[in-house]
Amino acid sequence: MSPQPIYLDEKSDEPITHITHACGGPAEDVAEPTPLVPDRRKCRRKKLRFLAAIFLVWLGFKLWSYLRFEFYNRYGYHTVAGVENTAVFEDPPVPDGVELVECPGWQGTDVLMGRHFAPHDRFTSYASFNLPVDSDKLFVLARGSAAGALKVRQGSGSEDVKVEVEARYRFEEAIDSVKVCTVKRGEGENGLGIFGPEWSRRNFVRFEITFYLPEGEKGSVLDVKSFETDAPLFAHDIGDLERSVHFDDINLKSANTPIFVKSLRADNAAFETRNSPISGEFNVSSSLTLITANARIDAKVNLFNEDDGDSTNLVIKTSNARVKGALKLESANKSGGQYQVSASTSNAALDLKISEAPVRHALSLDADTSLGPVLVQVHPTYEGTFDVATSLLRPEIVWKGVEDPEGKGRRRKVEVHTDGSRASGRIRWSDEDPESPGKINVKTSLAPLRLEL
Ligand SMILES: *[C@@H]1O[C@H](CO)[C@@H](O)[C@H](O)[C@H]1NC(C)=O
Ligand SMILES: *[C@@H]1O[C@H](CO)[C@@H](O)[C@H](O)[C@H]1NC(C)=O
Repeated sequence: MSPQPIYLDEKSDEPITHITHACGGPAEDVAEPTPLVPDRRKCRRKKLRFLAAIFLVWLGFKLWSYLRFEFYNRYGYHTVAGVENTAVFEDPPVPDGVELVECPGWQGTDVLMGRHFAPHDRFTSYASFNLPVDSDKLFVLARGSAAGALKVRQGSGSEDVKVEVEARYRFEEAIDSVKVCTVKRGEGENGLGIFGPEWSRRNFVRFEITFYLPEGEKGSVLDVKSFETDAPLFAHDIGDLERSVHFDDINLKSANTPIFVKSLRADNAAFETRNSPISGEFNVSSSLTLITANARIDAKVNLFNEDDGDSTNLVIKTSNARVKGALKLESANKSGGQYQVSASTSNAALDLKISEAPVRHALSLDADTSLGPVLVQVHPTYEGTFDVATSLLRPEIVWKGVEDPEGKGRRRKVEVHTDGSRASGRIRWSDEDPESPGKINVKTSLAPLRLEL
């Protein structure tokens, strides 16, 4: 037993065996707890003082924020900041060939109440526009620092395309630095233009733009001839339109923002961005192109072929990120159809599956990546050649015993030649038939490759 240190309590003058400086909780190693009444009271006072101090700091902060906010409102930021002394903005440049039609003012500038202390977006303003739905082309053109989200939805109760614009911004003057107008470009091309200045913290406006497409006549599908966006910095979000709208052409172009499509039907569709993903469900009859870089693509695609000699084409392209494609091939005549599919990425996995396809279809498929595994699965109705290659590893070619999809009781004939990390061959349902034009090419490097037939 080592001797316990003895301390003297200042107030009581009584020796105690231990002192705990922590207010509150009993110390674990108190051998004989002596009641420390005066100390407890002191502790409680200390606690109260601490809480009061926190409350005062909080109150001060609130008050300061409020005053600052009021001050901004009354005198404008420039008097406070004193850095930029002018709030005069030049008109943002409008691209050549684009004619401004109508630039209505903003309706109702709301101060977002209860959000005084939020770092962004103190104000909201609204504007709305109508565009004729039978335009040869409907378009959106955004330039400068204009950024935000662009949505396309089905609306009702209007014969025109209704466009609702909501602008949110922090500095009241910012809204004067952007122009949002209906614009024209050539015959029959009507659109919405959003023109902002070069980006700066003070003039930044975030937009949410929603296009409401009208309903088709008497419940029929609405036909839109052409819809085009060129809106870098706008995330694109297309609603569930497949059953109610058909686009002859739809072309969405963005950069650094994602494109998301809930469902869509078109003859030709092209979507392009960069550094941001593309995902969605598509039914196209002529072509679909999905291009990004450094971000993934995840698409469910129905390729509908008229079976009139022209092929239906799909192009998927990215880099450094995975590609996932779930495909169905559909033909206007229960058999036949021509399809061209090409998918590529690099340094990432590629996964392409065709779960449905008509008998006697003609498919040309290219899938290409590097340093990432590839899985390509075609439908058992596929007939034609294949040629696959990776490096160092042996590619895997697999096929299942399935019944003749034409119901003629035929058996599949498969030839495979393997040569190290390369394999090629042919698969078909009948000897008598003319050679099928089907062609599959799959490539990767230093990674597994699997082809399911
Ligand atoms: C795809 O679109 C075509 C018309 O373009 C239509 O006939 C077909 O039924 C659609 N397919 C699916 C699966 O919705
Ligand atoms: C397929 O249907 C189209 C019409 O959609 C027709 O013109 C064509 O002859 C048909 N082809 C075959 C092989 O039946």
